[in-house]
Amino acid sequence: MLVAGNWKMFTDLITARSLAKEVVEAVGSPGDVNVVVCPPAISLHAISEIVRTTPVGLGAQNMHEEANGAFTGEISAPMLRSVGCQYVILGHSERRQYFGETDRGVNMKILQAHGHDLLPIVCVGEALDQRKSGRAEEVVRKQIDGALEGIAVDDPALLVIAYEPVWAIGTGETATPQQAQEMHALIRSLLADRYGENKASEIEILYGGSVKPHNAVELFGQRDVTGGLIGGASLKAEDFAAIVQAAQ
Ligand code: PGA
Repeated sequence: MLVAGNWKMFTDLITARSLAKEVVEAVGSPGDVNVVVCPPAISLHAISEIVRTTPVGLGAQNMHEEANGAFTGEISAPMLRSVGCQYVILGHSERRQYFGETDRGVNMKILQAHGHDLLPIVCVGEALDQRKSGRAEEVVRKQIDGALEGIAVDDPALLVIAYEPVWAIGTGETATPQQAQEMHALIRSLLADRYGENKASEIEILYGGSVKPHNAVELFGQRDVTGGLIGGASLKAEDFAAIVQAAQ
C-alpha cells in the first residue's frame, strides 16, 4: 500500500515545514504502508531535512524530461534527487489540462525518472464528458499505452500508477468503490499484457479524487486499489493520517 499526499500549489516554506512536522507526528509508524508527501518544489529541500529520518518519503509534483539544459523555470530529475526526492508525480490531470502535458511527454519523463532513481507516480484518468459518453476505458487505455511505451519494468516496485478520474478531483465527488475497482482492474490487465501477470500483480495502483477519511476504507478495500493519491485531505495532517490508517 502507498499513500501519497499531493500538496499542489498550497503552503509556503513556513507552513510547509509545520505541515510536514505534523504529518510525521500524526502518521507515526505506518507499518506496511509507504507514506509520501509531495510539497511544492520550493520547499522540497527543507522538507527533506524534516522527513529524512522518518518513515515519510518525499516526492515532487512534476519535473522536466531532460536532465539539464536551457529550459528556464524548469526542474530536472537529478535536481530532485539532489534535494532528497525519491518519488515524482507525472502527468497529473492538472498538468495535462493547464500545461499541455501529453502522453508522449509523460513517457519521456518516466524514462528520465527511471534514469535517475526516481520512482514515478504516473497519473491517468478520464474527464466527465468522456465517462458520460462511455469512453472512460478507452481514454485510460490510451494514456497507459502512451505513457508506458518502451518503459521496461524490471522491478515492479519502480512504477506506480494513479487512477484519478478528473471529475472526482477536488470536487468532493468520488468514484464509487465499484467504479474505481473496474478501472483499476483494467489498468492491472494492461500492465499484465505488458509486464506479465506476476509483475503486474505487484505494481501499486492508487486511486485519487476526493479521498477522505470517511471513504478511504471502502476504496482501499477494493482488490486492485492499493493506496491513494490525496489532494485536499493531505493538507490536514489529521485527515491525511486517518487515510494512512485506513490503508493499514
Ligand atoms: P483531491 O485531489 O484529493 O483534492 O481530489 C487528488 C489529486 O489531484 O491528486
